[in-house]
Amino acid sequence: MPDNQAVLYKKATEDAVNHLIQPWPSAGSIGAESRELLGAGEGIYVHDTKGRKLIDGPAGMWCTNVGHRNEVLADTLKEQAMELSYNSPWYTSSEPSAELARRIAEHAPGDLNHVFFTTGGSTAVESALRFAQFYNNVRGLEGKKKIICRDGGYHGSTYLSASLNGSQRSRNWMDFADEMMIRLSCPDPFRRPKGLRLEAFRDQLVAEFADAVKEHGAENIAAFVGEPIMASGGVIVPPEGYFKAIRDICSENDILFIADEVVTAFGRLGHVFASEACFDVVPDIITFAKGVTSGYFPLGGMVVSDRLLASLRTSNHPEAMYAHGLTYSSHPIGCAVALKNLDILEDDLLDYTREITPYFHEKMKMLEELELVGEVRGMGLMACIECVADRESHNPIRLDTEVGVRIDRHCQDLGLLVRPLVHMCVMSPPLVITRDQIDTMAGILHEGISRTMRDLRQEGIWNG
Ligand SMILES: Cc1ncc(COP(=O)(O)O)c(C=O)c1O
Repeated sequence: MPDNQAVLYKKATEDAVNHLIQPWPSAGSIGAESRELLGAGEGIYVHDTKGRKLIDGPAGMWCTNVGHRNEVLADTLKEQAMELSYNSPWYTSSEPSAELARRIAEHAPGDLNHVFFTTGGSTAVESALRFAQFYNNVRGLEGKKKIICRDGGYHGSTYLSASLNGSQRSRNWMDFADEMMIRLSCPDPFRRPKGLRLEAFRDQLVAEFADAVKEHGAENIAAFVGEPIMASGGVIVPPEGYFKAIRDICSENDILFIADEVVTAFGRLGHVFASEACFDVVPDIITFAKGVTSGYFPLGGMVVSDRLLASLRTSNHPEAMYAHGLTYSSHPIGCAVALKNLDILEDDLLDYTREITPYFHEKMKMLEELELVGEVRGMGLMACIECVADRESHNPIRLDTEVGVRIDRHCQDLGLLVRPLVHMCVMSPPLVITRDQIDTMAGILHEGISRTMRDLRQEGIWNG
């Protein structure tokens, strides 16, 4: 690494420690830390400040779908900025946003034909929740406001979207709109009661949903919000038929089904949207973000069913206002980038993702031969390696907060960035990853987990 580069990195680290507040900080280090500083990115790789070239295992935060340093997207950013860098969505619109809305609608299932653009995933979910409240107010159903969500879900960091989140870790010290939420069990097949068949587990979850509707009353419930696959919860794929059964209960009870596809949309599962293609469900609203621009520009949104909009247009309150908008809704640069990103997906990247997926899982699944690994699961180019202290009982490893981080540390030494999640490691590489690169990634994970096992044994933490 050239000397001047090293000096710049050192300065950036100091600046971060002195002035930057990172997301999700602990009180003890808030405003006083610098996280792993990255330099350049290229394709599936990022370079760190120690001069290492690392495979970007989590594709940033499930977002760099077309890979880093894509020239077409980079050029589009500049071209659109030189054409129209911004327009107020309050009283004007732009060509890129209108075209993108049409093209997204063409991919969305059923009658989901209109798009409201936001700045990311949290604002997409927040917009959907506020829309559900507005929708029921206009229909004269002011009491129909509760939201059904699930343990293990993650939906964002704005007040309402965060109130849906299911991880205890994120709830300990923060405030939430808990009075609005009905929280149900996590549909995690790996953690289902021992001996319970998968179908019986699904039926149990569906019965829990139906019971909650009865207990709280459909007249008090506005919506169900769920990720098709719980991403940050550990790539949890629910049992087959689960979503379809829940969709039916929602339809029967006038409860909106909101699919949070912030992670699963735009290619991660080989389709622009996964709800219908992978789970045979047509939601009322789909939220998206991340992969829509492959992370090159902050953009998200919700696609809304025409049925809901028609019902508002013909309501008794045509003057009622959905008083919700963002300065950067429909940002022309974000929308222009998203159009090119969609071109790339449509050209061949969706096909390629579906084609490479079985190989990815074949390789990831081989990690189950390691004693520390309880399960490797996933779908599309998403996988989770869940570590356990005891494969029989599925107990997470003792010192569980450390295991993912330990694996990540070893893998980074070997050339792979991992996303540690307590006792799990989540993998969601850029969709452009090749077979050879998958081999390398799997090899590094194997060695990184093996080294972690050796450390845990040596330190007397684990004797598996
Ligand atoms: C399913 C899901 N919804 C919403 C969000 C929030 O998105 P953002 O961080 O862009 O606000 C995330 C972020 O990871 C997510 O995984």
